Amino acid sequence: MFSGQRRSSRVRSQFVAIFFNTVANGRQILLIRADLSPPEEERKIVVKVRVFNGPNLNLLGQREPGQYGKQSLQDIMRQLGQFADTCGIELDHFQTNSEGAMVDAIQKAGSDGVSYIIINPAGYTHTSVAIRDALLAVDIPFVEVHLSAVSSREPFRQISYFSDVAIGVISGFRGESYLLALQAILNRIEP
Ligand code: DQA
Repeated sequence: MFSGQRRSSRVRSQFVAIFFNTVANGRQILLIRADLSPPEEERKIVVKVRVFNGPNLNLLGQREPGQYGKQSLQDIMRQLGQFADTCGIELDHFQTNSEGAMVDAIQKAGSDGVSYIIINPAGYTHTSVAIRDALLAVDIPFVEVHLSAVSSREPFRQISYFSDVAIGVISGFRGESYLLALQAILNRIEP
């Protein structure tokens, strides 16, 4: 579990290093981003990232902690929100247990001007043509995320309806997978 502690420091003039301390196992992860953005008042482009979480992810923390970690979804999203704030990204998130609600929410992202999507389709990863089609319809670049290492689990989990149309896939880092996905998006944004 992350402690929620965050320290930011300017390493060189154009880089910001952000340390996230973990309390569960004493590990520390370091995320680095180029700090080439103009001052707040000169910033014209708002980058909006929306996170979508599929079925049963509302039970994170209690649900198979050996697979998915001990952090709740709220904790993971809070940590991600703090990272986004530090980087000047507008981030929000949506969780549903229902396929139709996920399709509706993805369609809405198209009209809300969302720039990037981070999605953990959960069980729908392995079944949902409808959610895949919604992502293709809105044509918003997305990163597919999984907490567990899906490629080394049961054969049916090794099939994804999303990977071939995603910017990339991050899996196996528990809650940190979301932070790494946002880092990957940041790396793609033109300063
Ligand atoms: C998951 C992996 C899926 O196979 C599973 O159905 C989930 C979570 C993950 O984050 O590891 O619900 O997407």
